[in-house]
This record gives sequence, structure tokens and C-alpha cells, in this order.
Amino acid sequence: MSQLTAIVTGASEGLGKAFAIELAKRGINLVLVSLPESGLIPLGKYINKTFDIRVDTVELDLTHDESPTEIFQFLKREKLTAHILINNAGLGNWDLFIDKQPEFYRTQIELNVIAPVILTRMFLEQADDQVTSYILNVGSLGGTFVVPRKSVYGASKAFISYLTKCLQLELTGKNVKMSLLSPGGINTKPELLVINQQLKGIAKATIFEAEDVARIAIDGLFKGKKEIVPGQANKLLVGLNSVLPGFIKNAIIKGKLKEHGK
Ligand SMILES: NC(=O)c1ccc[n+]([C@@H]2O[C@H](COP(=O)([O-])OP(=O)(O)OC[C@H]3O[C@@H](n4cnc5c(N)ncnc54)[C@H](OP(=O)(O)O)[C@@H]3O)[C@@H](O)[C@H]2O)c1
Repeated sequence: MSQLTAIVTGASEGLGKAFAIELAKRGINLVLVSLPESGLIPLGKYINKTFDIRVDTVELDLTHDESPTEIFQFLKREKLTAHILINNAGLGNWDLFIDKQPEFYRTQIELNVIAPVILTRMFLEQADDQVTSYILNVGSLGGTFVVPRKSVYGASKAFISYLTKCLQLELTGKNVKMSLLSPGGINTKPELLVINQQLKGIAKATIFEAEDVARIAIDGLFKGKKEIVPGQANKLLVGLNSVLPGFIKNAIIKGKLKEHGK
């Protein structure tokens, strides 16, 4: 494979950081994007030293209108073409709809929906059609299952799922591969780790470490998989979701929420 460059959004921590390291292990140059003062610069230096690849860091807030343009202007100035786009940055929550302020939902939609749409559009514009380009959109099983307390988050991931599946059809015959990543829970933050450690049975089997999700996702992306669902338990749940009637799914979800005192 010739020297490739990947843009990874939300790369300072969690799954984005795991993507950065996984791509670096494969000798792929990186343009890492995250909020200012998020530790992105030291992370970039560490990856550059450890894996001997080029790493550029762009610190900006992806909820700002001008941010996608700034990323591609940076690439132009540096005479770089991006071959891989990982739309990873995302904002989740676990609250009743009424318990969050309107401004929170605005930010969530700007980060989870608007930013990936605009970045994908700009990425395709600069893509070199002589070299295969890759786009990985990070969705969630939260976009497949209808779960209370995940209202706007789940809807934003359902949007990403539709967008990806639609663009996969539009891009048929073009030198672009696009995958949707639909993970279950990932141990990315201490608070998630605490919740996930209390799970049992199949619920426990749906949880993965960020490094494993990143490896499975990048393998799937390069193989041209349309949708990547890490783990057998998650695949089983997706299969059940497509055959079970809505009232049974709702009863199961309400039962599970009761178990957790919600
Ligand atoms: N964790 C899970 O259980 C899970 C499950 C399914 C899907 N996902 C999806 O996986 C993706 C990554 O999740 P994660 O758990 O790794 O999240 P995370 O640990 O909260 O990391 C999010 C990353 O995005 C960056 N970011 C946040 N707001 C930003 C903004 N306005 N502009 C630029 N960068 C911003 C963060 O930077 P800072 O460090 O500065 O905050 C951080 O690098 C998300 O799309 C999420 O929806 C996660």
C-alpha cells in the first residue's frame, strides 16, 4: 500500500485515540483532530516517536461552522491529501430528554450529525480517485435500538446509519469504500467502566475495549465491509432486533430499565 494519510476526529481519547494508534501501527500518517488543550499535541508527539510516521494535530471545536474548512485548508497548506476519514468524535448521554438543556442538544447534533456530513463532503471533494479512499462513520447500536434516555444521541446515530448506507449506494463504482461502525458499549471512560463492570450475561458480552473495536473496525474498513458490528453478542442482538415485534422489544427494554432503577 502506498503512503496513506488518515484524518481521525475526536482523537485525544477513547475510541479516537485507539483508532490513531491502530492506524499508526499500520504505518499510516495521521491528521488528528480534537478540542484545544485535550492532550492531543503530546499524544501526536508520542505516536510520531513510537511509530515513525508523520503526525499532524489540528486543535479545534468541530461544532463550529468553520472547523471542517479549517481542517481541509490545513491539508492544502501542507500539500497533503487525505485517503482515510474516521468520523469518530461524538457526544453521548444517558438522561431523560427533559433533563438536558436545549443548548446541549444543539451541541450534540452539531458534533454527531453536522460535522460528519460536512467533513465527508469535503473529504470526497479532495480525494484522489487514482487511490482508494476510505470513510469510517462511527455509529452505535444506540442508533439501531430505540432506548429511552438515548433520544437525541440515538437519533443522531440513526442519521449516521442512514447517511452511510445511502452514500454507499451513491458511491458504487467509485474508488471509495465507506463503512458504518455499530459498536455496543465500549470501555472508553472511567464512568462507563464502572457501569459496564456491573453487567452480567449477554449484556456483559456486548462490551468491548476501545483497542479491540478499533482493530476490528480498521480491518473491516480495508476489507470494504458495509457495516461492522464488533462481537457475536452484538451481532445476535442486531439479528433479533430485525425479527422481534416492536411491543416485545419495548417490554424487554422497559424491564431492563426497571432492573437498573430507571
Ligand atoms: N463509548 C461507548 O460506549 C460508545 C458506544 C458506541 C458508540 N460510541 C461512539 O464512539 C465515538 C467515540 O466515543 P468515545 O466513547 O471514545 O468518546 P470520548 O471518550 O468522549 O471521546 C470523544 C472525543 O471527541 C472529542 N470531542 C468532543 N467534543 C468535540 C468537539 N466539539 N470538537 C472536537 N472534538 C471533540 C473529545 O475531545 P476531548 O478529549 O477534548 O473531550 C474526544 O477526543 C462516538 O462517536 C460515540 O458516539 C461510543
